[in-house]
Amino acid sequence: MRVLAGSSGRVLGIESTCDETAAAVVEADASGRGYILSNAILSQIAQHAAYGGVVPELAARAHVEVIDHIVARALNEAGLKLADIDAVAAAAGPGLIGGVIVGLTTAKALALVTGKPFIAINHLEAHALTPRLTDNVDFPYLLLLVSGGHTQLVAVRGVGDYVRLGSTIDDAIGEAFDKTAKMLGLPYPGGPEVEKQALKGDGDRFALPRPLKGRAAPDFSLSGLKTAVRIEGERVSPLSATDIADLCASFQAAIVDIIIDRTRAGLRAFEGVAGRPNALVVAGGVAANGAIRAALHQLATETGIKLVTPPPALCTDNGAMIAWAGLERLRLGVTDDLSAPARARWPLDSVKADLPADPTFAPTDDESPEAARDAGKELPA
Ligand code: KG4
Ligand code: ZN
Repeated sequence: MRVLAGSSGRVLGIESTCDETAAAVVEADASGRGYILSNAILSQIAQHAAYGGVVPELAARAHVEVIDHIVARALNEAGLKLADIDAVAAAAGPGLIGGVIVGLTTAKALALVTGKPFIAINHLEAHALTPRLTDNVDFPYLLLLVSGGHTQLVAVRGVGDYVRLGSTIDDAIGEAFDKTAKMLGLPYPGGPEVEKQALKGDGDRFALPRPLKGRAAPDFSLSGLKTAVRIEGERVSPLSATDIADLCASFQAAIVDIIIDRTRAGLRAFEGVAGRPNALVVAGGVAANGAIRAALHQLATETGIKLVTPPPALCTDNGAMIAWAGLERLRLGVTDDLSAPARARWPLDSVKADLPADPTFAPTDDESPEAARDAGKELPA
């Protein structure tokens, strides 16, 4: 890790950890406020839809094919040349390793040829810092990250200062939505389809479990709920349109209950490590769900804590969040050298931003089921 004199400036950020190839330019002014100059993205959903999930080898190849084009688009849309950029950042993990290597190597090559600093970003850190770009939120805050690959409650105390309060012990919430959709014959990605069906259905018809509800530790477990949906589906099979809508509504009602109960536990755990949060921030693709958003609004009103939900384009995977995390680090004078590795697994709480170079920054191995899935073969979009 290299240390530069304090600066803000402009950062090009590259994201390729899953099935989106993305690049963006973000600028910070002297006060530290961020401005998105461009945010180019190409989704691979169509390439993976036939398989009902992301195929890592296809993803890596698709990233290689478009990454140059996406970076050029990000620069063009910002009206800038490479020479106008102060640093190049890329997500170095966690994620599907083939894709991570594509974005990371591209960023390193750009940094090398331009002589600009390079910054290796933890993808989860980028999600965690996004509300500071979109809503100027001050530390500390509670982050609920709910996507196809991640389900975590994190106390965000500063740049490089994250305490993971809880996470899923089996499936991610988005993954549970996707698997439920697949079981019911709905198209991929399943989250939005389940939500659409749920609007037409009766959420009280099927009594589904709420795993870990009431536990003090703010962890999640979804696999039992997914199995319960399968068993109920088999029981009433063949499924009518009403059965499908009712199963979706009952599943979504259980998810809403689980999220609210686990977030309450997260707020209690937060007090122990960081006091009172300045905000409750929800990020990840699942945060697009209207029923979940409405329930979280209610929780925020009840607890008097501000709810921050970055716009969907910025709380799902994107390049601007990588560029912004790069700016946050650049401002602290933290950059990396070109030997920074690509990491399939990289738990957020092992990320540091100490000054100067800190040997504890070295990667650690995390064998949690969620981290194992980061390295796994089938990571939903
Ligand atoms: O953050 P994201 O775009 O990608 C990563 O997983 O990193 O999240 C995608 C996930 C998918 O599992 C998708 O089904 C889910 O978010 N999702 C939703 C909704 N929209 C997307 N889940 C529930 N309701 C939605 N409206
Ligand atoms: Zn993500």
